[in-house]
Amino acid sequence: MTISPPDMPFPSPPDYAPFKAGPFRLSMGLMPLDLTDWIEPDTQCAVELKEKERLLTERHDEVFAALPEAAPGSAEALALLVEHLPSQFPEVYKRNGHRLDNLATGQRWEIHASPLHPLDLAGRLVQEDLCLMQRQTHTQVYHLVGASLCFPTRWRLADKIGKPLNTIHAPIPGYAEQLATIMDKFFDRLKVEKPVWRLNWSLMDDPTLFQPTGHGRTGTNTDITPENAGDTLWLRMERQTLRRLPRTHDILFTIRVYVRPLAQLAAQPDRATQLAAVLRALPPSMRRYKSLPPFMEAVLTWLDRAAGKKRF
Ligand code: HEM
Repeated sequence: MTISPPDMPFPSPPDYAPFKAGPFRLSMGLMPLDLTDWIEPDTQCAVELKEKERLLTERHDEVFAALPEAAPGSAEALALLVEHLPSQFPEVYKRNGHRLDNLATGQRWEIHASPLHPLDLAGRLVQEDLCLMQRQTHTQVYHLVGASLCFPTRWRLADKIGKPLNTIHAPIPGYAEQLATIMDKFFDRLKVEKPVWRLNWSLMDDPTLFQPTGHGRTGTNTDITPENAGDTLWLRMERQTLRRLPRTHDILFTIRVYVRPLAQLAAQPDRATQLAAVLRALPPSMRRYKSLPPFMEAVLTWLDRAAGKKRF
């Protein structure tokens, strides 16, 4: 039996708004995570898992990578998901011995007899992308040792695999000075029983989930105007979780991508006000990093109108 999308017992995607008022500050922005909320399936589950299957078939090496040392942590991550999903979402995920059925997609997984790498299989079970971080003795910091990354927000897995956190984040203006040290300390001290989550946001002119490039755009995109910005731009938000795995002590980083048309903010004037304030507070280096310059003026005018400060 396969459940059709309208009957899927998952909620609609949550309405996240990761915009903080006030001066710009690079921050970790971590919040405690209740592990019952670790994974966040929604009505897009079947569509997004199908897209993952397509990417993993057509361009496997771009969306999956695992170093040999990722094997134990990957197996642990898979085992945790196989335990978690049927207990949290019993209408969709059914466990039968070593078999796991996903009734939303009609997929059936033989967990122990699968030819797939355990992290690859784990990534096909959930909408989240999965990144495995491991502390390396030669550097004494955490490195990316494996990932199932179908929906990257402007980064290439091949550029980051094997790299430490600070190299991974090197393109971010201010990271080295403001975040590198506290991040390394945080990763060292993260406790099994204290998982965390955070939100990230981007504004993009393309709603495609798989976006491995696109930082640092400049110039002006004359196709995006104050009149059509709501229909030509998308808010892309990432809900990220971090948990230390109890057995291997590796850290699993999950990334769930939500893409919303900017036009939704036309009905949410407070959100439009907040986003306009956040955009105006961004330093030029961060505007460039996020590829905002091509449509910055257009989107600010559109947001001011949505906020009710100007007429459409
Ligand atoms: C406490 C945890 C973390 C924090 C606070 C954090 C913070 C950030 C921030 C502020 C950005 C810039 C995003 C933007 O504003 O557009 C970013 C980007 C990024 N983060 Fe993290 N991050 C965390 C964990 C991780 C982990 C575990 C990975 C491992 C894969 C990772 C990989 C990336 C990548 C690949 C980018 C894009 C970098 C690029 O542009 O090349 N992050 N992160």
